Amino acid sequence: MKNKTEFRASARRLLRGKLIAAAVNARERAVAPYSKFKVGAALLTKRGEIVSGANVESASYGLTCCAERVALFNALTGGKRDFIAVAVVARAPGGPMPCGACRQLLAEYAPTAKVWVADCRAPEKIREFRVRELLPSAFVIP
Ligand code: THU
Repeated sequence: MKNKTEFRASARRLLRGKLIAAAVNARERAVAPYSKFKVGAALLTKRGEIVSGANVESASYGLTCCAERVALFNALTGGKRDFIAVAVVARAPGGPMPCGACRQLLAEYAPTAKVWVADCRAPEKIREFRVRELLPSAFVIP
């Protein structure tokens, strides 16, 4: 390790890989009997905690809940706050982009978070976004 900057960069890479791995594990627990499209998500807090979730589908299709929201509700109701990143994985080229509903929730509860997406078949190929860039001008109650 040459210097502090390099050390920090490699620590960030390690953490990113760890969060993607948590999302890949969570994806295994997806309940997607209708679409068969399994998604896993994992949130990272400022304190280094990781909370994950996966999509859950209903026979009444509209009741389905995305992996990102399951992870977020899981984290919030577990008392977690200050999210610095969210990882989302699925069997999708380039990784799955969070849907509009999840972007709204992320904009409310994880506004400064980074969004890391990857295809679970190539988890080392990670694309990075920011919640703010995925949903500019999110709805707020005035
Ligand atoms: N899905 C997610 O889990 N996250 C998204 O951001 C988009 C879609 C799930 C919902 C449903 O179970 C399946 O993917 C197909 O739409």
